[in-house]
Amino acid sequence: MMVNRNVLTLDEFTLREMKAFPRATGELAGLLRDIGLAAKRINVEVNKAGLVDILGNTGDINVQGEEVKKMDQYANDQLMGVLQHGISCAGIASEELDEMVAFDNRVSMNSKYICMFDPLDGSSNIDVNVSIGTIFSVYRRLTPAGTLALTADFLQPGLRQVAAGYVIYGSSTILVYATKRGVNGFTLDPSIGEFCLSHPGMRCPETGTIYSINHGNFSQYAEGVQKYITGCQQKDETNGGPYTQRYIGSMVADVHRNLVKGGIFMYPATLQKPKGKLRLLYECNPMAFIVEVAGGMATDGHQRILEKVPASLHERSPLFIGSSGMMEELEKQGRLDFR
Ligand code: AHG
Ligand code: MN
Ligand code: MN
Repeated sequence: MMVNRNVLTLDEFTLREMKAFPRATGELAGLLRDIGLAAKRINVEVNKAGLVDILGNTGDINVQGEEVKKMDQYANDQLMGVLQHGISCAGIASEELDEMVAFDNRVSMNSKYICMFDPLDGSSNIDVNVSIGTIFSVYRRLTPAGTLALTADFLQPGLRQVAAGYVIYGSSTILVYATKRGVNGFTLDPSIGEFCLSHPGMRCPETGTIYSINHGNFSQYAEGVQKYITGCQQKDETNGGPYTQRYIGSMVADVHRNLVKGGIFMYPATLQKPKGKLRLLYECNPMAFIVEVAGGMATDGHQRILEKVPASLHERSPLFIGSSGMMEELEKQGRLDFR
């Protein structure tokens, strides 16, 4: 099959978007290019993970109290490296780092953006060849340019995101990013090593027939969540049920599939983890921003994810995200957590 060489690359696309704003400096385009570069490097390592000694654990425990996989560390270092050496980012916070890092050089300090990421999402899937991803989110800093970034720059509600995106290292590698202007997906063409526009103007279908949740925790969920799941399993002429259940265990891949096909993803509060598992800043906010720009919805069961005011870098939140029709149905079910 012929590959279409006329499609826009990620760089060409972001520069074209930039030109739509007369006052744009190109900093955001530069930041996205840097993230794209890190993603390509991570992709290469993920693809040969079985061949070299980067599978398995480093033996360390991360700030979330979980074992750190070697690839998590590698991905974290790549992202931090490109952003630190680039000219478009004043500092970062990452799922893998205890504290935020302010880049202490003149060029970085003059940047207006800060960036947060989950370097590798779904890392328990690395050893078994299942899709994993990277999630990132970009904010305008609150502190003035020319100074060191501070923790307050990172504790902004998700509504203030300038851009957010993810990369999936799957059967092909795709980078999807959103600004308020829209959501676009770029598939990596390995023959030229470039992300090429493959999914322009992505929209989340209003409804779908896929629900994604860890069923093993059923007895641990609040009544409303249990009711919704049971409803998904019922035959129903009006909504086309029973629905299909799909759960990869890499949120980024589960949400991407639902964004393309229509569906709902849930990581609710459980009796043991009343705040859920996913991190508000590195996982929930970026995915909520992307899905909302695409026309979908994201809540914690009480409140819109993007309106939550974070109190700390690593805070967790329950997450319900997906097609608006399915989210509205979920909200009719009553209590979705244990408050
Ligand atoms: P991470 O690898 O960054 O720690 O994230 C894993 C997350 C998320 O991607 C996934 O949906 C969820 O953990 C799976 O958790 P359960 O095994 O508890 O279902
Ligand atoms: Mn994750
Ligand atoms: Mn992770």
